[in-house]
Amino acid sequence: MVSGSNGSPRDLKAGGSLCGRVRVPGDKSISHRALLFGAIAEGTTTIDGLLPAEDPISTAACLRLMGTSISPIKSDQIVTVEGVGLDGLREPAGILDCGNSGTTMRLMLGLLAGRVGRHFVLSGDASLQKRPMNRVGHPLSLLGADVRGRDHGNLAPLAVQGQKLRGAVVGTPVASAQVKSAILLAALTADGPTSVIEPARSRDHSERMLKAFGADLEVGGEMGRHIMVRPGASLTGQHVIVPGDISSAAFWLVAGALVPGSKITVENVGLNPTRTGVLEVLEQMGASIEVLNRRDVAGEPVGDLRVSHGPLRPFDFGEELMPRLVDEVPILSVAACFCDGESRIRGAAELRVKETDRLAVMARQLKLMGADIDEHSDGLTIRGGQSLRGTELDSETDHRVAMSLAIAGLMAEGDSRITRSEAAAVSYPTFWDDLDRLRC
Ligand code: S3P
Repeated sequence: MVSGSNGSPRDLKAGGSLCGRVRVPGDKSISHRALLFGAIAEGTTTIDGLLPAEDPISTAACLRLMGTSISPIKSDQIVTVEGVGLDGLREPAGILDCGNSGTTMRLMLGLLAGRVGRHFVLSGDASLQKRPMNRVGHPLSLLGADVRGRDHGNLAPLAVQGQKLRGAVVGTPVASAQVKSAILLAALTADGPTSVIEPARSRDHSERMLKAFGADLEVGGEMGRHIMVRPGASLTGQHVIVPGDISSAAFWLVAGALVPGSKITVENVGLNPTRTGVLEVLEQMGASIEVLNRRDVAGEPVGDLRVSHGPLRPFDFGEELMPRLVDEVPILSVAACFCDGESRIRGAAELRVKETDRLAVMARQLKLMGADIDEHSDGLTIRGGQSLRGTELDSETDHRVAMSLAIAGLMAEGDSRITRSEAAAVSYPTFWDDLDRLRC
């Protein structure tokens, strides 16, 4: 769990270039899903490349508490999940602790809603207890789910009383893969078909992986925004290969493009088109990025990305791109600080309900370095090009903020110190080692 006020500060030296090859750890979204789907499948699931970080470890801990046997999660080791079948999860004796992980809590709500007669309590750290859960609880209630919590069911700790669920047509208010996936998981045990209709397509890892496990699922509608699940099919354990996380690769892509003299190859990066918005923005900025060795690995597109330093232009993007780069907004706000002219991020109100309010936190921290930023209710305007000064910075407990500030610190004049830097371990436990190793 991310610590509050007593986190470890890290000194960060400004300047120098970054060179060489790096393999980022496994995709966080795919890692959660491999554990969850493996748990409710029949037979054994083996997971190669599972992200050995705090968030998936929270998912595994919750599943173990409900009787699923999962081998230890360590880097470079295949993880084995012994599935208990669609209805095999036991009522846990204690609270399901989701740590800092919104994906764990939201997907778990969908997974548990239909476990008839069983009672579950879910909670998490201080950040997770502030994040909105009605966005999952409300659509699940259309299937007959009983989810309760503080603030009219919106805030953890949450209680789920398993119910017999009915199939339904559910329109989701936000393009969120967590909301969509929760409904799809609940739909597996409903008494009839369920359709989910999203306002815009969110990441589709659940659809791809559920199909591979044998679920009866169809994707249709304009841009794949309609997903239908027919209950009844049992899931069968699979061998899942998890590609590197493009959201972790994004720190090196921006660093490689920004820091003079840099040339980095990020190997084995997942290139699912529902996740590659950051590449489009970097292209809009004129960054030099090559995709090498494009291939398909276990149902997900993968490639190596080679980036080198060069001049960058400001960017402007909005709602249309947001679901495809939602986690990359903090590092893109750093990129904007270092290119001449005004960059705009619009349609990003979702950032306010992530692990922290990422619009406020990034604006606050980058302003401490002297950045010229206006914060709007749904975005940021960043006038870049002037030099930033190294200073005392704070992740404010957010993993993606910690790593974004590290890249800003490299580009600053004068060294920085980042407090609560250990937050990076939520999604990228070897980030600081990789940074040291890439310096050339
Ligand atoms: C995730 C979906 C995104 C993303 C989060 C992981 C997932 O959240 O920000 O880091 O694995 O489904 P939303 O679905 O709320 O946009």
